[in-house]
Amino acid sequence: MFRILGRSMVVIVVMFAVLASSPHPLLGQGLPDLRTPRAPEAPHINGPKVYGARAGHPFLYRIPCSGVRPMRFSVEGLPKSLVLDPETGIISGTVPKAEGSYRLIIKASNRRGRSRREFAVVVGEKLSLTPQMGWNDWYTHYTNITDKDIREAADAMIASGMADYGYQFIDIDDAWERKPVTDIAALKGPMRDEAGHILPNGRFPDMKALTDYVHARGLRAGIYSSPGPLTCGGFAASFGHEADDAALIAGWGFDLLKYDLCSYRKQMKDPHSVSELKAPYLKMGTLLNGQDRDIVFNLCEYGWGDVWKWARDVSGSSWRTTNDVGAVKGDLLPGFYKVGFANAALDAYAGPGAWNDPDYLIIGADGDPHNLAAGPQPTHLTAGEQYSYMSMWTLMASPLFFSGDMARLDPLTLNILENSEVIDVDQDVLGKQGKIVRHTDQEFILMKPMADGSTVVGLFNISEAPRSIKIDFKDIGATSAVTVRDVWRQQNVGRFGASYTAEVPRHDVMMIRITPAQMKRGM
Ligand code: GLA
Repeated sequence: MFRILGRSMVVIVVMFAVLASSPHPLLGQGLPDLRTPRAPEAPHINGPKVYGARAGHPFLYRIPCSGVRPMRFSVEGLPKSLVLDPETGIISGTVPKAEGSYRLIIKASNRRGRSRREFAVVVGEKLSLTPQMGWNDWYTHYTNITDKDIREAADAMIASGMADYGYQFIDIDDAWERKPVTDIAALKGPMRDEAGHILPNGRFPDMKALTDYVHARGLRAGIYSSPGPLTCGGFAASFGHEADDAALIAGWGFDLLKYDLCSYRKQMKDPHSVSELKAPYLKMGTLLNGQDRDIVFNLCEYGWGDVWKWARDVSGSSWRTTNDVGAVKGDLLPGFYKVGFANAALDAYAGPGAWNDPDYLIIGADGDPHNLAAGPQPTHLTAGEQYSYMSMWTLMASPLFFSGDMARLDPLTLNILENSEVIDVDQDVLGKQGKIVRHTDQEFILMKPMADGSTVVGLFNISEAPRSIKIDFKDIGATSAVTVRDVWRQQNVGRFGASYTAEVPRHDVMMIRITPAQMKRGM
């Protein structure tokens, strides 16, 4: 009896192990396809290794570090104007007045071990030396967003561990303002007070208290407006009040502004004129630069007038390159691939301080703009598509803004968002956007050079069947033998001479880091 029971137990355990390790054929049967290994309990410091800030402005940085709490942090080389809370790892204070690179060594320890990481605070003009990471409410809440949702998202960013991987911004999108035409009582009322200050709607009782709440957790807060009279959602916007709004946003304590063209189009004589497109962004960018805090400027005008060619001139730290990823219709491939393919062609324009923005990560659960009452629903994307989405965005050094539901962060979603080696690809200090190596009907290959001399390659199967995808090392400039590491699974695959071939399921990806054998750094 026991022998029979014992044997069937073994069979069950083996089946379970097979299910957990072979991601594809048995998916859809209830077991999530988890590729990121469980994070160690010992500390591991994640996120960027450089951080840009402007002299004399307020500074706030929560050290992203996974591992069990309680944890103890220390920092060597901290400038006198900054202080560290050793328990939370939040560094705050004032950016030093002298420009230059301040090299720090961050250390974290807990009962399981210790971790250290070099980190440079670069005081100068450039913000976002690596792509911004955070959450934006749009694809979950659309025009129903409230103060409570934002606070809960900030709490969830800490509780879920996302902040321990470098996610830092909590961004309010459209619909915090009042609306001239509406039946909803909370959105009614004058758009501005007598002094010209824009008035938040009844769902946002106190903006300063809200940013204080976000900042108290070591996170940063973002907000949204349009250069036109109305936002895309038909809410009040900044036209004719740009200076009032820049000052108010800074006074409330926001750290990022997304500025969305929307109704400004009606102010333009020629919607294709670059100088007309540029003017409102130059105006707001200059105003933001005049505030006494760092405000990251995100341009949103859907890539019109080749924005990537001039966004830097108007102080843009990132610029949307396409239409809304949530609105782009797919065919056999979901819409995010189309956005990714278009954005990937713009690699020459990205670099430290200035990034192509292909819009947010819609994975996990998200809202339906045509049925907001139904609340967020699980994505229709397969696990392989979701891993592909994240892989493509990190290889393209894109801003990483999750826009799914922070209240429903299931194990698969967190497994995709919280992989330290995948995040390292996005946040690499070299700041190179991945280049297209091959794009056919069946395959898409991106390669991203990294600061340590290695190269990360994404092998995307965009066909309808499993496929062998081969990369010749000469195509990525590697001439000697290399070691190959599976970035998602954080495992070395082996040493290879001239090429590597991966078996990739339909609409899935293999992301590898290739290091010349003689270097073998960090492998
Ligand atoms: C536009 C933008 C979106 C979102 C909405 C808000 O569509 O592209 O990202 O901000 O407006 O109304």
